[in-house]
Amino acid sequence: SNPKYSMCWLSYKPIEKKEYVQEVEKFLGQIVLLEKNIYFQNAGNELKIALGALFGTEPRLSNAENLYMDSGIILSKVTNEKLSIFITEVEKEAVGEEGFLIKVVDENKKKYIIVASKSEKGIIYGTFHLINKFRLKTGLKELNCIENPKAPLRIINQWDNMDGSIERGYAGKSIFFANGRIKRNYKRIWDYARLLASIGINGVVVNNVNVRDKAIWLITPKYLNDLSKIAEIFRLYGIKLYLSINFASPIYIGGLDTADPLDKNVQNWWKDTVQTIYSYIPDFGGFLVKADSEFNPGPYVYDRTHADGANMLAEALLPYSGIVIWRAFVYNCLQDWRDTKTDRAKAAYDNFKPLDGKFLDNVILQIKYGPMDFQVREPVSPLFGAMEKTNQMIEFQITQEYTGQQIHLCYLGTLWKEILEFDTYCKGKGSYVKKIVDGSLLGMKYAGFAGVSNIGDSINWTGHDLAQANLWTFGKLAWDPDIEIEDIAREWTILTFGDDKKVVDNILWMLLNSHAIYEKYTTPLGLGWMVNPGHHYGPNPEGYEYSKWGTYHRADTKAIGVDRTSRGTGYTLQYHKPWQEIFDDINKCPEELLLFFHRVPYDFRLKNGKTLIQFMYDSHFEGAEMVDELIEKWEELRGKIDGKIFNRVYERLKMQKEHAIEWRDVINTYFYRKTGIPDEKGRVIYP
Ligand code: GCU
Repeated sequence: SNPKYSMCWLSYKPIEKKEYVQEVEKFLGQIVLLEKNIYFQNAGNELKIALGALFGTEPRLSNAENLYMDSGIILSKVTNEKLSIFITEVEKEAVGEEGFLIKVVDENKKKYIIVASKSEKGIIYGTFHLINKFRLKTGLKELNCIENPKAPLRIINQWDNMDGSIERGYAGKSIFFANGRIKRNYKRIWDYARLLASIGINGVVVNNVNVRDKAIWLITPKYLNDLSKIAEIFRLYGIKLYLSINFASPIYIGGLDTADPLDKNVQNWWKDTVQTIYSYIPDFGGFLVKADSEFNPGPYVYDRTHADGANMLAEALLPYSGIVIWRAFVYNCLQDWRDTKTDRAKAAYDNFKPLDGKFLDNVILQIKYGPMDFQVREPVSPLFGAMEKTNQMIEFQITQEYTGQQIHLCYLGTLWKEILEFDTYCKGKGSYVKKIVDGSLLGMKYAGFAGVSNIGDSINWTGHDLAQANLWTFGKLAWDPDIEIEDIAREWTILTFGDDKKVVDNILWMLLNSHAIYEKYTTPLGLGWMVNPGHHYGPNPEGYEYSKWGTYHRADTKAIGVDRTSRGTGYTLQYHKPWQEIFDDINKCPEELLLFFHRVPYDFRLKNGKTLIQFMYDSHFEGAEMVDELIEKWEELRGKIDGKIFNRVYERLKMQKEHAIEWRDVINTYFYRKTGIPDEKGRVIYP
């Protein structure tokens, strides 16, 4: 076999540790499916493939009417009566709609591993969980568990266009679309579904949020038949299909002269359209909408509110239990740089906060983690917890737009975890973002995680092999944001590269330090935006300075940064106490966000006694130098991991080094030219 692409963390290899194999083998007599439907059949097949590859066994797949066998893995619903002697009522009750239980029965004559879910949805998650636990050589006793996802929505957003390109994609072309059509490469989509199910994902929006040209027509019979085939594959893996829509579709497709959400004809047009969609895809998830944002049409065109717009769609979807995911990424993208009153950071809150309580129950607001746009560091969006009567999801960008475009190693798990652990104080102490987006804190019906995908049709899916860790981590955090990030990263490393100590130690070090390193040599202290306009790669200190996008640092010869305190733009007032006061105070503000909140003179002393300008120089020299450590850690693994992967990553690390030096020199020179202040340590700064 010579596969055209890898299976990432699902590349099964024989388990070599003899004692472990002996311990587990006794339980692998056969695979018994106590439910007769395609979902259990599919999970059984997955298990069979895995057991064959891991243990070299060929277990029979049987629909046992009676449990006459004495050994085997049983896939069942928790409610199946045949399990009642093994599973207690309490355990049964503890398994939620998408959850599962694993229980090892180890008696003289009965050696079973039971994987049981409440519904068809949970069984595939449980099956992959078990497979991966085997691969981690988890002892039998530690297999016992009850797992439920914390957040109800765990959705991947593809930014795939129908011409096959991917907006902000760095790993090849779309696996879904090409040449204005839906691709029929079902094998690859099938394998994508497997990867996603193995990390607990339950939804995929297959097209870009910017819905233009042919993509507008995806909601019509022209494409629904092909889409239904994709939906069918995803369905087997517990994943629902969603579509991004263009708010002006009634005009483009329906030939109406308006898309006004309060217009009866518009409302009826959407109802008909939704009915048609469900006739092709009975479990269609719903719509993702980017409205009144970056030149996309929306309700503002008709002087209506975002609640008017979202609710109109929600009403059409409600009879089918569909949902509307409405993006909060709304700001003035035609700002005049001379205007110092308008602050883009305030925009999402200003647009949406007044609408709290006005959205229907099946509308969810999808909010980017920060107030700007996926920068290497931003404060948590103040919208989290600001709307207590509105369903909320957090949006992360798995694809590395501003974080090195999958040329630089930048593991995002550490950043995401910090954001999820942020205490909003919206209900007093302990009001963490993770508790808002899992729905528990405010009792939301729908809540969750959206991640902008980093995959394409490249051989390793993600361009940089180590960027696979970002996709893995997104799924794992969405399933359970309480897990330690180091554990998530370690599991990925072992499943992908094996458990050689050196391999695990080195890769783990690389992952866990990579974001901090990237931040150091690019834009530390919450500065952001010093990238080349358009493609957003590489340094350009004033690339976004005199533009219309609302992204200014306003550096002069004395100071840099925007005063977003209550004395400045007033952005800090969007936070609950005590954050207002903390962010307002230059001495209390977390240093990594200093220049996001404050305008700071270059001779200002930071906590470690350094001046701001010296910190900038040091940070860039150190950051660029630390890329050598990444390279060294990787070089130590030569011969210990697959040669092709080794070389691919090695090539990228060498590019990273080169580009980190470019970042260092451009940014340092910029500050030197602005200030004329030399580096205290006399290192080379190009004049
Ligand atoms: C960023 C990104 C765009 C994208 C937008 C969005 O601005 O650069 O490509 O469309 O985010 O999230 O809608």
